[in-house]
Amino acid sequence: MMLAVVLLALMAHLAARAAVPVSFTQNYLSSTDANHTRVLSAELVELVLDQDSAAAFGSKTTYLFGRIGMGIKLVPGYSAGTVTAYYLSSAGLTHDEMDFEFLGNVTGEPYTLQTNVYAKGVGGREQRINLWFDPSLDFHYYSVLWNSNIIVFLVDKVPIRVFKNNQNLGVPYLNSQAMAVYTSLWDGSQWATEGGRVKIDWQYAPFIATYEGFNVDGCAVQNNNNLAGCAVASSNKWAQAPALTWHQTNQLKWVRHRYLVYNYCTDKMRYPTPPPECGTSIL
Ligand SMILES: *[C@@H]1O[C@H](CO)[C@@H](O)[C@H](O)[C@H]1NC(C)=O
Ligand SMILES: *[C@@H]1O[C@H](CO)[C@@H](O)[C@H](O)[C@H]1NC(C)=O
Repeated sequence: MMLAVVLLALMAHLAARAAVPVSFTQNYLSSTDANHTRVLSAELVELVLDQDSAAAFGSKTTYLFGRIGMGIKLVPGYSAGTVTAYYLSSAGLTHDEMDFEFLGNVTGEPYTLQTNVYAKGVGGREQRINLWFDPSLDFHYYSVLWNSNIIVFLVDKVPIRVFKNNQNLGVPYLNSQAMAVYTSLWDGSQWATEGGRVKIDWQYAPFIATYEGFNVDGCAVQNNNNLAGCAVASSNKWAQAPALTWHQTNQLKWVRHRYLVYNYCTDKMRYPTPPPECGTSIL
């Protein structure tokens, strides 16, 4: 009995260890100098925004399909005017992109999380939610589950948004261009906080966001050599991932009911006729 308990504890310990952390430098490169992209240790990085510079880093390679995300602890305290972006993007004029944008706020007021999707160069699909926790206190894992049928934006394991493949309705889908993974921290005072009314206040600088979780669980395309391979389920387990579970479906409904504060689909000023994907169910 005792032995069994010890063995179980040991197995649990080994299983936890099995998810070997991947170092920042294995998958990512700084885009800004060492004062603005601070590599604190192999698995912990800070982005630092000050009056000299914004801050950013990006992945070394590009990917097609995966469950791709990162652990982020946002700028604490006064973060008004700052935007912390975590996004995947391809290159070129008709690029594809999926965004998480965290819009800072004055001390004590909540962040807003904006998501957006660009397909073949066309964006304008903003949605905004409030979060059910303070994202500056701890690391939370922000990710996209991306395959040939569906894109699911997740906060930890909770789905907050779905963008389906609606090519049959004439809506371009993000399935032909490999994307790199990026994050940046910059001054978005023109629009970020209360529509631009509250600006960044440099007396609170430097503004610091912290990152962990540099594993990328996606199909690496490597200079377009493997685009065709990543596109098909026979050689990429991510190309056709399963749909949401019943539990996740309920979580998505909960988020949309309780936390959704803006949806381009219902913005009649911008879109008197809602885009075709808006007419379909959220799942
Ligand atoms: C970083 O900041 C220090 C102190 O201000 C400065 O001496 C150094 O040149 C900076 N390094 C870079 C790479 O800009
Ligand atoms: C900031 O806080 C105010 C007041 O609670 C809120 O109206 C606003 O939506 C928050 N977020 C942003 C990004 O302005």
